[in-house]
Amino acid sequence: MTTATNVLRVLLATPDYISGHEMATLLGVSRNAVWKAVCALREEGCVIEAATNRGYRLLSLSQDLQVTAVQALCHTEQLGQSLTVLPSVSSTNALLREWAATGAVGGAVVATGHQTAGRGRRGRSFDSAEGGLYMSVLLRPQNWRGDAGLITSCAAVAVARAIERVCAVDVQIKWVNDLLVGGKKVCGILTEAGLDMETGELTYAVLGIGINTACRAFPSELLDIATSLGNLTGEPCDRNRLLAAILEELEPALLQMESGAFLEESRRRSCVLGRTVTVHAADGAYEAQAMDITESGHLLIKCVDGTMTQLHSGEVSVRL
Ligand code: BTN
Repeated sequence: MTTATNVLRVLLATPDYISGHEMATLLGVSRNAVWKAVCALREEGCVIEAATNRGYRLLSLSQDLQVTAVQALCHTEQLGQSLTVLPSVSSTNALLREWAATGAVGGAVVATGHQTAGRGRRGRSFDSAEGGLYMSVLLRPQNWRGDAGLITSCAAVAVARAIERVCAVDVQIKWVNDLLVGGKKVCGILTEAGLDMETGELTYAVLGIGINTACRAFPSELLDIATSLGNLTGEPCDRNRLLAAILEELEPALLQMESGAFLEESRRRSCVLGRTVTVHAADGAYEAQAMDITESGHLLIKCVDGTMTQLHSGEVSVRL
């Protein structure tokens, strides 16, 4: 961790002023190194007050996504230890898949505030306007325990918890990969797998998470179905805190995935269970009752003729 990250950690943990001398002693570096770190943090957009005879005090973090801020806020073992923040990128999932193929470490994260070719499920594009939080996490087999097919469901629960921690809104899950607030989508999740062509084994998964965080206007086709955390709370969401919270929720959730405990929360947060849903199948749409989410993360539905079926993946819509 850099000195700037350590200095920011100390400032975050100290509500009052702290002197340069005290920080230098705490961190085992020179006062000059602390001064340089404070300058670097200010450069990145942190507002740090300096008062004679009292020292430094953090007034606010940068509004921009910053590696230093996320790493100072985040207490994880693996997720985000390698973190790249880019001003704009075609797709964080596409980029991280390229890096995965050339040996990037498990837990590596790429994040941006803008994508030019954001990817959604089923080959669709994902609206990735400036000011959002678009991120991908490279998961190697050591980063999860259990059935990789449950990664998206487990991540949905972890991201819901993180959003609630940072933005104080109630988050629901629309099986399997959409997070909704007040009936409108604020986040989509896309997990893509990397297979070993010879053995057919899963060598990695790229977990992509796209969150509407900014206060913004939506294109007319999304107006009724999407919203943003900024529009809901009246202020732009702190993306550094949100990204750190996501990694902190995600790491233990994936490592405890095998216990299946998250499924109970997934059911509790579900906005489809007990409702009539429209299932969008390859050969057309039909209506059914959403009954349960199984231990395998599948959606158990009751068709109009009374037969029960499990949906493994796919698309359902619900009138909320
Ligand atoms: C969906 O709602 O269909 C899933 C959307 C997933 C979007 C995220 S944004 C970060 C990552 N990079 C991408 O290109 N897509 C995912």
